[in-house]
Amino acid sequence: MDKYEKVFELAKRRGFLWNSFELYGGSRGFYDYGPLGSTLKRRIEQIWREFYVIQEGHMEIECPTIGIEDVFIASGHVGGFSDPLCECKNCGEAFRADHLVENIMAAAGTLSAEQLTQVIKEKGITCPECGGELNDAYEFNLMFKTTIGPGTGRKGYLRPETAQGMFVDFQRLSRFYRDKLPFGAVQIGKSYRNEIAPRQGVIRLREFTQAECEIFTDPRNKKHPDFERFADSELTLYSQEAQQKGEAFRTTVREAVEKGIIAHEMLGYNIALTNEFLTKVGIDPARLRFRQHLKDEMAHYAIDCWDAEIATDRFGWVEIVGIADRTDYDLKAHSRVSKTDLYVYVEYDEPKMLTRFVVKPNMGKLGPLFKGKAKAVADALKQLSEEELSKSQIKVTVDGEELTVSSDVVDFAEETVKVSGENVIPHVIEPSYGIDRIFYGIMEHAFDEEKLAQKAAESGLKVEENEEKADKGPEAAKDENEGEGEEETRLVMHFSSAIAPVQVAVLPLLTRKELADPAKEILLRLREKRLLVSYDDSGTIGRRYRRNDEIGTPYSVTVDYDTLQDGTVTIRDRDSMRQVRAPIKGIENVLYELIYRGRDFESAGKPFNF
Ligand code: GLY
Repeated sequence: MDKYEKVFELAKRRGFLWNSFELYGGSRGFYDYGPLGSTLKRRIEQIWREFYVIQEGHMEIECPTIGIEDVFIASGHVGGFSDPLCECKNCGEAFRADHLVENIMAAAGTLSAEQLTQVIKEKGITCPECGGELNDAYEFNLMFKTTIGPGTGRKGYLRPETAQGMFVDFQRLSRFYRDKLPFGAVQIGKSYRNEIAPRQGVIRLREFTQAECEIFTDPRNKKHPDFERFADSELTLYSQEAQQKGEAFRTTVREAVEKGIIAHEMLGYNIALTNEFLTKVGIDPARLRFRQHLKDEMAHYAIDCWDAEIATDRFGWVEIVGIADRTDYDLKAHSRVSKTDLYVYVEYDEPKMLTRFVVKPNMGKLGPLFKGKAKAVADALKQLSEEELSKSQIKVTVDGEELTVSSDVVDFAEETVKVSGENVIPHVIEPSYGIDRIFYGIMEHAFDEEKLAQKAAESGLKVEENEEKADKGPEAAKDENEGEGEEETRLVMHFSSAIAPVQVAVLPLLTRKELADPAKEILLRLREKRLLVSYDDSGTIGRRYRRNDEIGTPYSVTVDYDTLQDGTVTIRDRDSMRQVRAPIKGIENVLYELIYRGRDFESAGKPFNF
């Protein structure tokens, strides 16, 4: 089993991830989040909100997951959001044509469908499933189509990214933020891509969760007002140049921006913020890098893009976040298609005196020529650009009628005017997070198989003695075989308390009332502290510790017969497996401090049994 299989096996068994529609044989590209998976995912999303909504002040909006066609015509998704598809003439299996040739050609991803077909034919590539002949590759649009309303209805698509919601709502957002740049808005929600052949488990889904932030910035000033906050953060960068050498490097954000490796502060700040978020939720910094897109792989809307990539055991480096400078591509595109100018009026610090040419229509001449329309012609002339006015026969449109005006009835004058601001089309900086991939990355990076003997030596514990000796009592016998073979190795998820789906497990040694009652009392007190708690009384205590290690529960509290004697319970630390005994009175405060205040474990009580 490779690590992906091991992690996935645990994820399935323990209620993190399940194959969707399993009852009916399943369907590729869809996964269900089980009870622990859903909780873990929500906690990741909640931390994301703390970063982007609370700290950065980019408010959250919620738009429909179905979009009308115009939106995706403007965004470029109708025209260009496709992958090259190739099907087997014999078994009908579908493949990404670029994936079929990527072992032969490094730049497979940049080839057109026609070029890929040629390579497939020349190299005699056949169906990887049955060896059958492949048909010609063609571009397959990845959006799920739907119809809005009954009958022929209106064409719609499931959104392929949440970002478009922020662009379509731009005018409303701008007003909400009192037209002050920069401002941002976020969405967390489902997006859909009808992937041709998703064979990478949770890494490539047809329905997935994005957390996207669109920051509208002044294109004339891409400095970040809080750049100093992260300026000295160290990052692992894999720039375009570094990729030529095949070597990533460490540098500070400040240095990367100063040297022009990262184009500007807005991007630099947001790359550093991503670094901060990912490490906070449990991505291993040693398995995290930021890779700049090569020129030929950049999305159609971006001029620069950096992906946060994580090292995975099976799939190598996997993109989990993209941080792009989308420029004014989207706002201009939506202006064009919606025929509505999308801009922000930006006031200058000081008004400027500008000299400009103004058109002076000669009414004495226009009147006899255009009669009742002369005034409208004069107004239309004032709207024209200098270039249009420089022609000898000037065209204007009045009430839908095109009229020609000879240049000799138009005079120009130079005028000095006071201008207090200008219309600006903002540029968009977009951090776009793939939550499902982050979820998997956290699981893989948190996963460990630990040799218990070695662990015991490190922690100064007699693990077996300590954790298995408690299995005395009448009910232990029926569990005798449950934990068998587990003494050697334990599977453990080293989730931080900030994301663990269960923060404390309350474990009565036996199901007997005299132990269950105080355990349930502790459970209630921990819940009142808003801690995520589980009550687990099935199986041997050793077995229960193992189960909680596997789901990443940072602390367990065990109620045993000593509790009845001296009013203390055992607190066990998942990572070190060390135990302390602490008074039952105030136990909820001790756990709260361990979880949220970084209290040192050994100070939580009296070391126990070592
Ligand atoms: N909004 C960027 C993406 O969906 O890839």
